Amino acid sequence: MTIETQNDIDKLKVIGKIVADTLKLMMKEAKVGMSSLELDNIGKEYLEKFNAKSAPKFTYNFPGITCISINEEIAHGIPGEKILKDGDLINIDVSAELDGYFADTGGSFVLGKSTEVQKKVMKATREALNAAIAVATAGAPLNLIGKAIEKVARKHKLKIIENLGSHGVGRALHEEPAFIAPYFDPNDRRILKEGQVITIEPFLSTVTTWVEEAKDGWTLFGEKGNIAAQYEHSMIITKNRPIILT
Ligand code: CO
Ligand code: CO
Repeated sequence: MTIETQNDIDKLKVIGKIVADTLKLMMKEAKVGMSSLELDNIGKEYLEKFNAKSAPKFTYNFPGITCISINEEIAHGIPGEKILKDGDLINIDVSAELDGYFADTGGSFVLGKSTEVQKKVMKATREALNAAIAVATAGAPLNLIGKAIEKVARKHKLKIIENLGSHGVGRALHEEPAFIAPYFDPNDRRILKEGQVITIEPFLSTVTTWVEEAKDGWTLFGEKGNIAAQYEHSMIITKNRPIILT
């Protein structure tokens, strides 16, 4: 969507804060021995307090409230009986709707003790998100986002998950601009517009460059032993730095 009124901004800020706080709470409450479904329920309860609806559940009939992806699972992991273990690299993606407005956020963390490689991938992915946010200004080519992500990945000798892109958001979970590539695409001539609402969500990894869908029809997997991280913010494009909603 593109912002038209102050009300648009206010409503996006409300749902942006709700999903951001849900993610923070779930990261804080994740414990060894808990199932990923129990962790999802913490998010579910928090969203319900504000009458916010899970966007993946209500848009795509996703069998969960938030997406919880563990280790080789890279995205769209279904909360279930799987027990969280010490050293697991967990990604939680929270997106929800309130009053017709949507926001989308995500983040990766390690439960308990992390390895040097896990730390490196998480730090580099955060850096990639920040680098992409820094070039996301009204009037700039949209493909600068992927260019910035690619530069950071290369610096850290990491791979990019190429089939997971950033996207427009606001009145729906996924809207125009569709698929903002996480790498430099010279054929993408789109220009960022003032007031445009988008997410930026790089996925960097050690091995995998392309995720495959599991038999469950949802979970997106990488190679066994692959380490990947994702950080995502929803934001409003302005002439200067974007307004971060999450
Ligand atoms: Co997301
Ligand atoms: Co997203």
